[in-house]
Amino acid sequence: MHAVGIVAAAGSGLRLGAEMPKALVLLGGRPLVCWAVESLRAGGVADVVVAVPAPQHAAFAAVLPADVHVVVGGDTRTASVRAALAAAGEHADAPGPSAVLVHDAARPLTPPDVVARVLAALAAGALAVVPVLPVVDTTVVVGDDGVVTADVPRSTLRRVQTPQGFDRATLVAAYARVHGAAAEFTDDASVVRAAGVAVHTVAGDERARKITVAHDLLTAEREVAP
Ligand code: CTP
Ligand code: MG
Repeated sequence: MHAVGIVAAAGSGLRLGAEMPKALVLLGGRPLVCWAVESLRAGGVADVVVAVPAPQHAAFAAVLPADVHVVVGGDTRTASVRAALAAAGEHADAPGPSAVLVHDAARPLTPPDVVARVLAALAAGALAVVPVLPVVDTTVVVGDDGVVTADVPRSTLRRVQTPQGFDRATLVAAYARVHGAAAEFTDDASVVRAAGVAVHTVAGDERARKITVAHDLLTAEREVAP
């Protein structure tokens, strides 16, 4: 099955607070976006499209492998993936069923095994698949006043990671259904679920966690230290 990878790298990284877009921040001497592209490739995805912030287009093109397609992203993650998906369609000439894997640049240490599990689920017929992990902490609902209002049974809860895999036509159709400023989703599985598509799950991996705040980057640096 021919799979195209999309890496969402067009965010600014406000919570990380670096002086550059988060995806350009170095981990073990390499920009986060390069780690994410490498994970996809090591897991079996050949072609990769990366959505980047417009002002840093040249900076991203300079650090990414020459055969990666760099496109300008949007104001939201949803808009960035939409832009990359349009560009990925330009290369949709491979025969047979095709897949799209959408990944966050902010998940640099995603093991290739996770990518391979997502691809395997698609090959087995799933139209949408996400890597998930159990919730291990007690989980509650808190009101505006900071007081707990309810316990949430955690046995059915999962944390959702990337890369998320889709049948290409299913993802394109789902994105075509959602438009405008209100069409903001935190991930791509929510977009296809909004279109009524069943989203399957495979095992995620703690190493695929997202780099959001400075502490996450420090922890990741320790993991890649020689
Ligand atoms: N992203 C994107 N386009 C946007 C916003 C986010 O491609 N307009 C990407 C980010 O680059 C990141 C992924 O979506 O790889 C997950 O988003 P997040 O962790 O929230 O990154 P940022 O939006 O960059 O960080 P922050 O929310 O702290 O500003
Ligand atoms: Mg963000």
